[in-house]
Amino acid sequence: MKKIIITIDGPAASGKEKIAKYISKKWKFKHLDSGLLYRRLALILHNEKIETKDINEIKKRIEKINNISFRRSKKLRTQEISQLASKIAIHQFVRQYVNDLQYDFVSKHKKIRGFVIDGRDIGSVVFKKANLKLYIEVNSEIRAKRRYKQLIDSGEKSIYRKILMDVKLRDKKDKMRENSPLIIPNGAHIINNNKSFKHTINQINKLMENF
Ligand code: DC
Repeated sequence: MKKIIITIDGPAASGKEKIAKYISKKWKFKHLDSGLLYRRLALILHNEKIETKDINEIKKRIEKINNISFRRSKKLRTQEISQLASKIAIHQFVRQYVNDLQYDFVSKHKKIRGFVIDGRDIGSVVFKKANLKLYIEVNSEIRAKRRYKQLIDSGEKSIYRKILMDVKLRDKKDKMRENSPLIIPNGAHIINNNKSFKHTINQINKLMENF
């Protein structure tokens, strides 16, 4: 069975996950959030107090992992883990490890027809031949406001100005890094997610008509 792959790329807090969940539910596609895997690795290193600059230690630790959880957790969503994930994601060996997890995920779900995978390099590097590529665009102030509300709603203390700075810093790291920087993938459709979710899904529904 030929699998259908939909990729969603875009900057931090651009709403990729919400869009991926929408597609996953409506078309019964399996959703994979690749950022969660970078966050899992970041959490492991954080818990074991392995410094991000200690590249050899990170390599050794990753080699020892034989099973990584794909489960969501509030612990993965803190500002600290977000920053850490962005820091370790610059290394090619970390990216290769996460990419292999994604390929395994798709191949092991033999009976699943379609997958929707979100991240920063999914359409540009990981699944270059995807059936449909989306790139989500939202200005940084709107992203910071939405992330601020999310954090407050989940009970974390938060300051809007700090969130805006964090969002801009992560954009810089994600776009400027040497390995698999965040770019608009070749052939991607740009989705404007500045307005209401209804406005966003109207754009998605049109593109998904063939699936
Ligand atoms: O999508 P997210 O905010 O959960 O991602 C956390 C970090 O992981 C992000 O700042 C950069 C990194 N990441 C990446 O480099 N490539 C991906 N495909 C997904 C995430």
